[in-house]
Amino acid sequence: MKASLYNPQHFVFSLRNSLLLALVTITWHISVTECVDLHLSGEVGGNVTIRCPFDKDRKILFFYFQKGDAFVNGYYEDRHMDHKKVPKWNNTRFDRANNTVYMYNLTVAHSGEYQCHIKYSGGDLKGKKIQLTVTANYSKPEVKQYCSNENQIFGCRVMCASHAGYPDKDIVWNVHGAQIWNVVNTSKTTDPHTMMFSVYSLAYYNCSNGPLEALSCSVGAVTSEMFSLCTQLKDPSEGGWPYMKEVAAILAVAFLMVTLLVWWKCRKRQRVSMLVSRSSSSSSSSSTRRCEGESSLKCNTRRGRSFLLKRIIQVVFG
Ligand SMILES: *[C@@H]1O[C@H](CO)[C@@H](O)[C@H](O)[C@H]1NC(C)=O
Ligand SMILES: *[C@@H]1O[C@H](CO)[C@@H](O)[C@H](O)[C@H]1NC(C)=O
Ligand SMILES: *[C@@H]1O[C@H](CO)[C@@H](O)[C@H](O)[C@H]1NC(C)=O
Ligand SMILES: *[C@@H]1O[C@H](CO)[C@@H](O)[C@H](O)[C@H]1NC(C)=O
Ligand SMILES: *[C@@H]1O[C@H](CO)[C@@H](O)[C@H](O)[C@H]1NC(C)=O
Ligand SMILES: *[C@@H]1O[C@H](CO)[C@@H](O)[C@H](O)[C@H]1NC(C)=O
Ligand SMILES: *[C@@H]1O[C@H](CO)[C@@H](O)[C@H](O)[C@H]1NC(C)=O
Repeated sequence: MKASLYNPQHFVFSLRNSLLLALVTITWHISVTECVDLHLSGEVGGNVTIRCPFDKDRKILFFYFQKGDAFVNGYYEDRHMDHKKVPKWNNTRFDRANNTVYMYNLTVAHSGEYQCHIKYSGGDLKGKKIQLTVTANYSKPEVKQYCSNENQIFGCRVMCASHAGYPDKDIVWNVHGAQIWNVVNTSKTTDPHTMMFSVYSLAYYNCSNGPLEALSCSVGAVTSEMFSLCTQLKDPSEGGWPYMKEVAAILAVAFLMVTLLVWWKCRKRQRVSMLVSRSSSSSSSSSTRRCEGESSLKCNTRRGRSFLLKRIIQVVFG
């Protein structure tokens, strides 16, 4: 332990206390013989337990727990503390039995130096300094990539973003061959209410350098999902729609069926017209008669495309 910790120190705390001395800010000059620095850490939204060491065999007259000059929690042994005049923090509880302060629902603003002050009967005032550090884990970074072919150069822009962390941290790209990795923009924003940070990084990768695999980005200990870049070295505008092949196949089958249907109907009609011409011996030059004795395929060919189209429309649309 550092020698300085045992040296008598002067420290000052003031407390507006209407009960002790009517609305006077009192400055205490105390010789502190026991000053043990304690470091505690908590997470945003979490709790922390702060034990202020005390002598069980001695009578405590009062106990203050304060942050800087601000009263947090405490009590007087012999009278009630008016918390309308000396408000205590809503998010704290105090257990007299073991001089322990419980602090709940931590925020970044709760970080800082706290002091326990214990006044024993007999005169001496003991103090202890506690350093509280509140952190928040950054969210798992989200990665989005936009690949495009601009001016015949196929490249990808990759964004990595992570939110609501504390303290301030930078995004690190986990890329082998960092010289071909081009970070275009980074930004950091602070929420004025929670004081937490959101971080963002935008990088560009030129696919001419070949595909990249097993990439990720990290913020502190949190790492994104792995991703790959430029693994399909072709223009993304080609065959952009994934179901193109399926749709083409369905259209081909449908066309084949319609053609067969038309062919079959045409043949059936030929037979009918043949029967009609036999029974009536009519010499009219109806279009059906022209098909007499000819194969149905020839029939279709002779009548041309316009007839086929007409038939398709008739069959398909009833
Ligand atoms: C904090 O304490 C409250 C009340 O005891 C409890 O409900 C909550 O789960 C605690 N939170 C954490 C993160 O420990
Ligand atoms: C404490 O809680 C009360 C009511 O629950 C609220 O009115 C007051 O603003 C709170 N004070 C602080 C400092 O959060
Ligand atoms: C303090 O004492 C209470 C019982 O009076 C106990 O529940 C609690 O765990 C103790 N806290 C510590 C930090 O020892
Ligand atoms: C915890 O603190 C946050 C921010 O101060 C507040 O919005 C929230 O209501 C608090 N939750 C509880 C259970 O006190
Ligand atoms: C924050 O990260 C630390 C270390 O990775 C982990 O131990 C802790 O559980 C995390 N806290 C939350 C609330 O996820
Ligand atoms: C970086 O991004 C920020 C926020 O998206 C934007 O305001 C800024 O103009 C960008 N800077 C550059 C050099 O692109
Ligand atoms: C990408 O790389 C190719 C070949 O190395 C180069 O010609 C081109 O200028 C690069 N494009 C960009 C945008 O850096």
